[in-house]
Amino acid sequence: MKTKAIILAAGQGTRMQSNKSKVLHKVYDKTLVEYPILAARYVGAEEICVIVGHKAEEVQKALGNTMQYALQKDQLGTGHAVMQAVDFIEDEGEVLILYGDTPLITGRTLEKMLSFHRENKNAATVLSAFIDQPTGYGRIVRSADQTFAKIVEQKDASEDEKQIKEINGGMYVFEARLLKYALSKLKNDNVQKEYYLTDTLEILLAEGHKVDAIATADADDILGVNSREQLAEVTDLMRKRINSQHMAAGVTLIDPQNTYIGPEVKIGKDTIIEPGCMLEGTTIIGENCTIGYHSKIKNTTIGNLVDIEISVILDSSIGDGTHVGPFAYLRPNSHIGKNIKVGDFVEIKNSHIGDGTKISHLTYIGDADVGKNVNFGCGTVVVNYDGQTKHRTTIGNDAFIGCNTNLVSPVTVEEGAYTAAGSTITKTVPKNSLGIARAKQENKEEWVTKKRSK
Ligand code: UD1
Ligand code: MG
Repeated sequence: MKTKAIILAAGQGTRMQSNKSKVLHKVYDKTLVEYPILAARYVGAEEICVIVGHKAEEVQKALGNTMQYALQKDQLGTGHAVMQAVDFIEDEGEVLILYGDTPLITGRTLEKMLSFHRENKNAATVLSAFIDQPTGYGRIVRSADQTFAKIVEQKDASEDEKQIKEINGGMYVFEARLLKYALSKLKNDNVQKEYYLTDTLEILLAEGHKVDAIATADADDILGVNSREQLAEVTDLMRKRINSQHMAAGVTLIDPQNTYIGPEVKIGKDTIIEPGCMLEGTTIIGENCTIGYHSKIKNTTIGNLVDIEISVILDSSIGDGTHVGPFAYLRPNSHIGKNIKVGDFVEIKNSHIGDGTKISHLTYIGDADVGKNVNFGCGTVVVNYDGQTKHRTTIGNDAFIGCNTNLVSPVTVEEGAYTAAGSTITKTVPKNSLGIARAKQENKEEWVTKKRSK
């Protein structure tokens, strides 16, 4: 069965007091609208149409061309929003409808809604939630026998209906053909003069189709973001949810209140995450690692038994048993092998570092291919940039780079070669040779004594 998804994101979001589109505000490193997109993808919705309106271009630019878009020029209601995507809706299959401002919706909740929908052969199923403070939400009205009757909006609700605690979460799955049909029948004869998507349910029900609501087990799933306050609340809930899952799976978080792990991050058993860490993007961390306090790690794959202290690591990989930090900066495309030491104040960029190499302190390595068991003395600089172009440096296995060496790229230090401390190396140092490139020392005897006596 083909499942397509429509995501409503045309609203203005006035209460955000922002110059940018509401759905482009972020929870962690992802925009609000990316979360329902991820959830839709989780349940197999490959084709997704985002309804854009306010700041439409900005939203389209941010999400790129993996989405389809439909423009809703004037925001005349949720039903009107979906009408803009009528060409996207086919005659067969299912259509999921989600909001772009509800980042806590999960793939698993949608999966439950879809199973319920399919098992009962419903024409439409709405995701509901039971909440203590239902003011503002549409209420799920049920008949005496508890079957679904309709959804009534806050502004259209009677006093009795306002007491109902089962609310409309705003997420649905429809049989595609019936959704298209019901949209064609929508009217805006209500208090707000809007085309309510919720009215499609009554329309289908009246024609003898099965419509029902299924309540989510976790009412947080449907929380929307309308203000900065709610953005912070949702971020907090997201943190608690994600951190609990990692702890349940065997990861130690020393201070879960101050640990931020992105929704796509994977962490192995018995790894310890110290306070203040931010783990982002598609980061994967192995087992038995220690990720030290205040480290930021993004889109990086880390092996087992890796030990990291207060470092920043971006778009890179680190092999088993390697130590990084404190205060290391691994910039994109740094591929660090196994059992390596990357020590304090070391910066590495776009380089391969072979197993067993030691880069203990105060070193910059950019655009280099470094072999195994190389030793870098303190203060080595790979001079990779000539002001116009970046060049590569190659260092063979077992080489020894003396302290304060400049390696002016492109240059090669062959296997087993040494560079003398303080050298500026501009030519190949052949295998097992010593490269010295510095002025010879000259001592002027008693020079100081004579100067002082003047
Ligand atoms: C809607 C539901 C209500 C439900 C609530 C859940 C209707 C009529 N009411 O309320 O039953 O309890 O969501 O949050 O559907 N949007 C557009 N274009 C529009 C209008 C809205 O794209 O013309 C988008 C908004 O950007 C937002 C979402 O749809 O992401 C919901 O809109 P909002 O105005 O917050 O919902 P309500 O209509 O108040
Ligand atoms: Mg509204």
